[in-house]
Amino acid sequence: PAITGPAESGSGFVVVANRLPVDLERLPDGTTRWKRSPGGLVTALEPVLRSNKGAWVGWAGVPDADVDPIIEDGLELHPVPLTAEEVADYYEGFSNGTLWPLYHDVIVRPVYDRKWWAAYVTVNRRFAEATAKVAAEGATVWVQDYQLQLVPKMLRMLRPDLTIGFFLHIPFPPVELFMQMPWRTEIVEGLLGADLIGFHLPGGAQNFLYLARRLAGQPTSRGTVGVRSKLGVVQVGFRTVRVGAFPISISSAELDEHSRRRSIRERAAKIRAELGNPKNILLGVDRLDYTKGIDIRLNALEELLLEERIDPSETVMVQLATPSRERVESYIQMRGDIERQVGRINGEFAQVGYPVVHYLHRPIPRDELIAFFVAADVMLVTPLRDGMNLVAKEYVACHSGLNGALVLSEFTGAAAELRQSYLCNPHDLDSVKDAIVSAIEDDRDTKRRRMRSLRRQVLAHDVDRWARAFLEALAQGQVAGSALLTDDDTYPE
Ligand code: ADP
Ligand code: F6P
Repeated sequence: PAITGPAESGSGFVVVANRLPVDLERLPDGTTRWKRSPGGLVTALEPVLRSNKGAWVGWAGVPDADVDPIIEDGLELHPVPLTAEEVADYYEGFSNGTLWPLYHDVIVRPVYDRKWWAAYVTVNRRFAEATAKVAAEGATVWVQDYQLQLVPKMLRMLRPDLTIGFFLHIPFPPVELFMQMPWRTEIVEGLLGADLIGFHLPGGAQNFLYLARRLAGQPTSRGTVGVRSKLGVVQVGFRTVRVGAFPISISSAELDEHSRRRSIRERAAKIRAELGNPKNILLGVDRLDYTKGIDIRLNALEELLLEERIDPSETVMVQLATPSRERVESYIQMRGDIERQVGRINGEFAQVGYPVVHYLHRPIPRDELIAFFVAADVMLVTPLRDGMNLVAKEYVACHSGLNGALVLSEFTGAAAELRQSYLCNPHDLDSVKDAIVSAIEDDRDTKRRRMRSLRRQVLAHDVDRWARAFLEALAQGQVAGSALLTDDDTYPE
């Protein structure tokens, strides 16, 4: 697609996301500084936006901050302010107390609160208005994720000249679960304001097509949706909205190159030495979120130690956990549970100076994180539900030497692509334990064969390809040729 740089009359390409790629941090002495925002969305989109030289509309990560736009390196950042009450009701409330658990299989119970919904509508309108001011005539606007599902329709009403894409970075839930949502029709209609709606997996796209028929009463295409192909269609009056599956990825080649650097290799060796030169380093890297199954991998480790299938003198686990959504009740509870579990395992199995589980509750600088990926013999990715999980792909990109093994939950989007990982069902602890043991004990050739296949997948499907596939589909307006279906009795597979 033709993406133009920022013009005097606005930007030709605009990304709209809840967060800017950087968060404003208020220091104890009253001064402020910018730091990288957490999460996979920023990891994926930042390189895309830098190479397209567009504008990014988003929140600066702190309440009541009145910040001017920043222009850096051709990238324009346009902060959208939120009051403390909006942070509580729109971000912590409706986004992360309602939508997040509902879209992640109701792992914790979603709260349906009318005040939170009202704040969600107000803030979505503010994002739409801010975007309408930033976008040039005829610009391409790419709206991101579950926090902003009403923006496509609101923006279209303000600026019918724009081409609007929407991508959901988290799973789109099964129809039965989505139907719980008191404002389900408003959300489906909000999304239908886009020209193209993208999900990670075909299943999410098909769930959405069914809901567009059932809730919005719009005719849709009949055929199955493919991966980066065979888009679904919803006919909204004279407009054709397309729906597709675009699995997100990472800057694979860049990470591959970075992980081969001598400084990283040396740091990885040093990490191993600092951990007491164990035979096996198991690694977890996550936002501290209940969807990630950190408790499950700790349970698996604890049982394996109890059953003496893992020797605590040979094995350490490192869990790097970025603080996340720290004022949301379910996150507060989960943090307590995990920290107790870490304490219990170390209490039972550690020696003085040699913990079995090393737990760091903080964001880790990029180079250090890459060195951990390189050092780890087994990567533990065990979510109960995850839209994609970029950590799994990052680990693979860091193993050019074909050593290492990836234990991966079947309930991640990444599992659809990384078939040669050690797949497990996080609801079945024996399956997780067996996957960990195989990942430790399989012979070198088996592990190399698996890693080679994983690397082929990750290196061939990078984030540039993801963005290009989405933006080309958005620009081309390609139409799936199948007949439209108007009845609502066909449940998606
Ligand atoms: P999510 O978007 O739910 O946070 P992903 O796995 O898709 O999950 O993306 C997480 C991103 O955050 C990855 O790029 C990962 O490297 C990064 N990350 C996760 N945990 C940490 C940590 N403790 N320190 C630094 N970066 C982290
Ligand atoms: O897609 C996952 C996601 O929620 C992103 O939208 C978000 O940027 C990231 O995880 C981190 O979460 P938060 O912005 O709530 O800290």
